[in-house]
Amino acid sequence: MAASVGTNAVAAVSEARQWDRLMRMAQLGAIPGEGVNRAALSDLDHQARRLLIGWGTAIGLAPSVDALGNLFLRHEGTEPGLAPVLTGSHMDSQPNGGRFDGIWGVIAALEAVQALREAGVATRRPIEIVAWTNEEGGRFAPGCMGSMAYAGHSPPDTWDAVTDSEGLRFGAELARLLAAEADIPRRGLGVVDGAAPHAYVECHIEQGPLLEAGGQDIGVVTGIQGSRWFLVEIAGRSDHAGTAPVRLRRDAVQDMLGAITALNALMADPADVLRFTVGRIEVSPNTSNSVAERARFTIDLRHPDAAVLTARGDAIAATVQAALTRCTASVTERFHALPSRFDPTVVEAVERAATAQGLATLRMASGAFHDAQFLSRICPSGMIFVPSRGGVSHHPSEYSSPAQLAAGARVLAATLAELAG
Ligand code: GLV
Ligand code: MN
Ligand code: MN
Repeated sequence: MAASVGTNAVAAVSEARQWDRLMRMAQLGAIPGEGVNRAALSDLDHQARRLLIGWGTAIGLAPSVDALGNLFLRHEGTEPGLAPVLTGSHMDSQPNGGRFDGIWGVIAALEAVQALREAGVATRRPIEIVAWTNEEGGRFAPGCMGSMAYAGHSPPDTWDAVTDSEGLRFGAELARLLAAEADIPRRGLGVVDGAAPHAYVECHIEQGPLLEAGGQDIGVVTGIQGSRWFLVEIAGRSDHAGTAPVRLRRDAVQDMLGAITALNALMADPADVLRFTVGRIEVSPNTSNSVAERARFTIDLRHPDAAVLTARGDAIAATVQAALTRCTASVTERFHALPSRFDPTVVEAVERAATAQGLATLRMASGAFHDAQFLSRICPSGMIFVPSRGGVSHHPSEYSSPAQLAAGARVLAATLAELAG
């Protein structure tokens, strides 16, 4: 019975409808090269959420929003009191991002739920589609704020004072969003308000080369490597580029270069498993003929082994201090997600669903972080990956084909049918 119900829902997944919705979403923040720049809590984000709410309510789903701006669309279960199965991802993008990272997980959730409804599948448990607030961390650092707050990992006001590059505060931009969505019913904030889901499943593009290289259709994600983010701020003194003797300068850029060089040595990994990235640098006053007074840079450190992540991350501050010549520095940790391993019940449900549909699967860990990392602490969780062309993401050229994305949504539909009973 459950198998045939799932089969009907799988058949009801529409490749064209899902692709069309993705392309309509991609117009909100379109940038050259078929990319997307849709920052969390921006006007474009507001518009994308309205579009999603419109699609969801048109098919009878009930919207709600929590204190962090996490947006939900509920498909009611025959036993509404049961904990829901949650499925979704995020709608914000990187500044130079693509059309699929995050948003596909939300659109796939809508497609799968719509297919279940069209197939007349009445699940015992409610299914809730979720769009988590600020997963990317591109505008307000760090990422995963919505899911971290929902899962009780961090208090909901943790990031209120975080500012974007224009000095706008996260707390103020969140309040602006909630005011704009005052017509949407408010709900409690996840485990903070006593509600844990039954399970969580997230669809996402792979963002790496493995599925394409191996010819597999579906990545059955077994877990996510750990990540730590740091902000290093170096303070020197501004001076005249033509007159100040080099030996007397307190040049923040030169000490930053020394610090990054020392960090590269600390992070050396012949096996190329560790990921160390300095992705953002800000210098002030940022003019050609002045010695830099301040330099700030970000560190993104990742490793699947918690012990390595802890040891190397904990050594960053001392490594920076030892590399300084005439400046001072502070090192602030802004994000710390330990490696997570997904629950076998969800991993196996995804794998069963894909195999039953004749799809080739690969069990794999995720190198990118995802909201599922925090959900996995409060409920059995898992993820479904589809191939990324050339393994590219966080770039306008990121691409997965309509057929690949439809296969992912079909696996999600069957997985939801099983998990929601
Ligand atoms: C998510 O976008 C990540 O940086 O892993
Ligand atoms: Mn993502
Ligand atoms: Mn991303």
